[in-house]
Amino acid sequence: MKAAIRSHYGGPEVFSIQEVDIPQPKPNEVQVKIYAATVNRTDCGALWGKPWIIRLFTGFPNPKRKSTGTDFAGEVSRVGSQVNELEVGDRVFGFRDNGLGSHAQYICVPSKMAVPMPDNITYAQGAASPEGAHYAYNFINKIKFKKGDKILVNGGTGAIGSALVQLLTAFGVEVTAVCRGEHAELVKDLGAKRIIDYSRVDFTQDEETFQCVFDAVGKSTFAQCKRLLEWNGVYISSELGPRMQNPFLALFTPLGGGKRVKFPLPVNSHRSVLLMKELIEKGKFKPLLDRSYPLEEIGQAYTYVAQGQKVGNVILQPFGD
Ligand SMILES: NC(=O)c1ccc[n+]([C@@H]2O[C@H](COP(=O)([O-])OP(=O)(O)OC[C@H]3O[C@@H](n4cnc5c(N)ncnc54)[C@H](OP(=O)(O)O)[C@@H]3O)[C@@H](O)[C@H]2O)c1
Repeated sequence: MKAAIRSHYGGPEVFSIQEVDIPQPKPNEVQVKIYAATVNRTDCGALWGKPWIIRLFTGFPNPKRKSTGTDFAGEVSRVGSQVNELEVGDRVFGFRDNGLGSHAQYICVPSKMAVPMPDNITYAQGAASPEGAHYAYNFINKIKFKKGDKILVNGGTGAIGSALVQLLTAFGVEVTAVCRGEHAELVKDLGAKRIIDYSRVDFTQDEETFQCVFDAVGKSTFAQCKRLLEWNGVYISSELGPRMQNPFLALFTPLGGGKRVKFPLPVNSHRSVLLMKELIEKGKFKPLLDRSYPLEEIGQAYTYVAQGQKVGNVILQPFGD
């Protein structure tokens, strides 16, 4: 099979497309023929090995996995001897933020990690459903809210932001989303009630207050957003902050009562995939798709994603389209 292989950390130039043996499933595993994976910001961390702390999980001094890729959508092509719940030909999708090596034509995963894909989506949509939604769901799990509460999402077009807008809307929250004006209709279609165009106004100066501010693109600070929060409101950012302050603020701000920072460590990616399956089947979630690349152009895909301007998800197609 073909796989995008690298042996050390670095930019897209460290990849080469190589012919390698197709992995064979252990008794509890299935082999999946991958029709779509995403190139996402978690993959960027694993490729560059930055921030450095990520190497505690991805390997030090060199990456443990030769191929990047955290998610997949494809067809079961072999099953291990102990697998009863899946058959050859089943359409499945899955995700693990510590990496699966899915930037290749085949992978083997424990059968539990390959979730039957809803019938109403394509492989590209299947691959695009878990990553952003996993982080979004972990953020949402850190706060208390009730139907009708107002929450602001900065970066409503990103993978995490677009999932946050849809999940919060599905849970009955009134969402104000920040994005560029040209994406206003797109983000309203995801469920946002109100749009703030960041190319025209500074959202941190808005007059409304919110139960929570989710900065899904990590472009603001707690200090800037504090005035937007209700007296017991919560600020969550997808980034560590310009001085890596967010994890420390999450320890100290709750001590005083009132407005606080939370810094969720994402857990249980399998639970997130199951939730996405349920919401997709109910018509309450549809991932945003940007552009697609064949495996041979993985370098271009990474270069584009690392610019931080993708709209939703970028797809890699190991067998072409
Ligand atoms: N905490 C975690 O566990 C975790 C995990 C994964 C990723 N991350 C981080 O989370 C962030 C988001 O990742 P992602 O994949 O969701 O993002 P993404 O898809 O790369 O976000 C791209 C979008 O961000 C928007 N954007 C760019 N600059 C903006 C600004 N100043 N204000 C508002 N929106 C802006 C752009 O929207 P417009 O086109 O409208 O400008 C673009 O569509 C990244 O910084 C990533 O490193 C964190």
